[in-house]
Amino acid sequence: MKSERQIIRVPDAATLARAAADRLSARLDANGGRAAVCLTGGSSPERLYRLLASEPYRSRIPWQRVHWFMGDERFVPAQDSRNNMAMARRLFLDSCAPPENIHPIPVQAGTTREAARRYEIALQTFYGSGRLDPMRPLFDLVLMGVGPDGHTASLFPGDAALDEREQWVVGVPHAGVEPLVPRITLTMPLLASCREMLFEVSGAEKRDILTKILDGENFPAARARSLGETVWLVDAAALPEAPENG
Ligand code: 6PG
Repeated sequence: MKSERQIIRVPDAATLARAAADRLSARLDANGGRAAVCLTGGSSPERLYRLLASEPYRSRIPWQRVHWFMGDERFVPAQDSRNNMAMARRLFLDSCAPPENIHPIPVQAGTTREAARRYEIALQTFYGSGRLDPMRPLFDLVLMGVGPDGHTASLFPGDAALDEREQWVVGVPHAGVEPLVPRITLTMPLLASCREMLFEVSGAEKRDILTKILDGENFPAARARSLGETVWLVDAAALPEAPENG
């Protein structure tokens, strides 16, 4: 595994979203066949999602051959405004992607455990195997965000889900931050199965946690690494000083 983390610092949130859209588009171009992107929730990717639905990105994305998954979900109805896939659908997927290429976490399942089990089967069917091959990553790109407590996806500090190595998807009964609803999350080994893991970190409210992570503190977001490239896009408000890579 390439364990280095590359930090790319940009001036502001608008530049950050464009840089993310360019990286996403480049990853899709590099794969001439069926491609897979793992999205994230929270507010960080909103600008990026809006950009993808507008030119020049809208014409640049090969929508017919790209499949869209979600890295974690809040256990609320699919139409609920807190639902991560509902946000992605509203901002770009419903207006751009073929419906059969959108793969939501099935929140209609009775329990988070059942939703996790079903999504794992869907991912394994898409991948064509229940065993991850490091030479054949599942995702071209995995988008990530970081929470104030250092969580990423729905992998919260101290939670058992963080150390899961076998299951691809698990239920998380208690979220560490708002909204305080149960979650479903992809686990570290599955999130790592990508050509690029791309964090978007923007705004002064991210400064404290980002400083701690770059200082080497052991948070879930700090542990998350791709088998390929791990890139942190950060803006000047989140990172006032230029960092060393590491
Ligand atoms: C979620 C997300 C979560 C998010 C971080 C950052 O379901 O909330 O997937 O992991 O990325 O909490 O959230 P913000 O972008 O809102 O700061």
